[in-house]
Amino acid sequence: MRRGTEVIDTGGNPEAIIKKAKELKLQPGKILLTHAHFDHAGGLELLDQAYNCPAWIDEKEPRPSGSRDLKFLQDGESIKLGNLNIEVLFTPGHTSGGVSYKIHDSVFSGDAIFAGSMGRANSSWSELHDSITQRLLTLPDHTRLFPGHGPATTVGEEKHHNPFFSTRRGAN
Ligand SMILES: [Fe+2]
Repeated sequence: MRRGTEVIDTGGNPEAIIKKAKELKLQPGKILLTHAHFDHAGGLELLDQAYNCPAWIDEKEPRPSGSRDLKFLQDGESIKLGNLNIEVLFTPGHTSGGVSYKIHDSVFSGDAIFAGSMGRANSSWSELHDSITQRLLTLPDHTRLFPGHGPATTVGEEKHHNPFFSTRRGAN
């Protein structure tokens, strides 16, 4: 079993993660949460029991239950995972402590932005808008975005085609 992997969000169906990790002979050593909603953090207890590893979340989120070693993130910090640097980007607005994780040219953005859409602004619309326009869409166009729901996309694709943020708005 290889310990140097992480799980980003537990989802509400942790059995699927455990099954996949077993298939790939991986033993996750870190759980990174984008926010505390049940469909993202609901599997925490089962994964904690399976892997006995720490979990991270923004302190501003409600405490998800199930972790015996819950840690709090700092904006801009790097979490080391083997040779990987996981960069923490606070992207609040969907929830007050929403976080995105950047690994190389890929960003796991929780429920901040979706392909062609954006998350519901449960805590603040202007904060969410700023998170997306100032923290995510300022990344290089080729940066891949992996939203918490729906298909993957890229920064360039969303800048040009997302109706909420398109710079081409009104061009056609
Ligand atoms: Fe959510």
